[in-house]
Amino acid sequence: MTVLLLMLACGEHPSTQDSLLEADTRPESCDSAPPVTWANWADGFFSSYCRACHSSGTAERYGAPEGVDFDTLADVIQWRERIQVRTLEAEDMPVGGGVYDEDLELLQVWLECELVD
Ligand code: HEC
Repeated sequence: MTVLLLMLACGEHPSTQDSLLEADTRPESCDSAPPVTWANWADGFFSSYCRACHSSGTAERYGAPEGVDFDTLADVIQWRERIQVRTLEAEDMPVGGGVYDEDLELLQVWLECELVD
């Protein structure tokens, strides 16, 4: 019986990450935005554009500071403000640019709609 209750309790809260937006704090614009998540998009984005330099597993960081890694969702949450500034505002990360406009738009959506402070 205890086990069943624990399972039910978990079922109500499939994610224990406090980083995911609560329904009532989510901007209304997110309702019509593409449903981008870490799993279906952002993980791949950071792999394609950032982890050549920003990964704990990379052999050559090309000057990217130690510890500024985007391997996991937790890493990215820690750096979200700076990612916003460097990739979407200053547009000087990744070094050399080259991010497709569509990916910039999806990054904006993802930061606004899936992540929260
Ligand atoms: C070719 C290597 C390279 C790639 C690819 C790269 N970076 Fe960097 N990154 C650097 C270097 C070098 C620095 C340190 C110098 C600086 O801050 O400009 C840095 C620093 C940073 C910092 C920490 C400094 C700060 O402003 O807080 C962030 C955040 C960052 N990069 C984000 C990104 C993101 C997001 C991507 C992918 C969209 C990315 N970088 C891709 C090389 C890279």
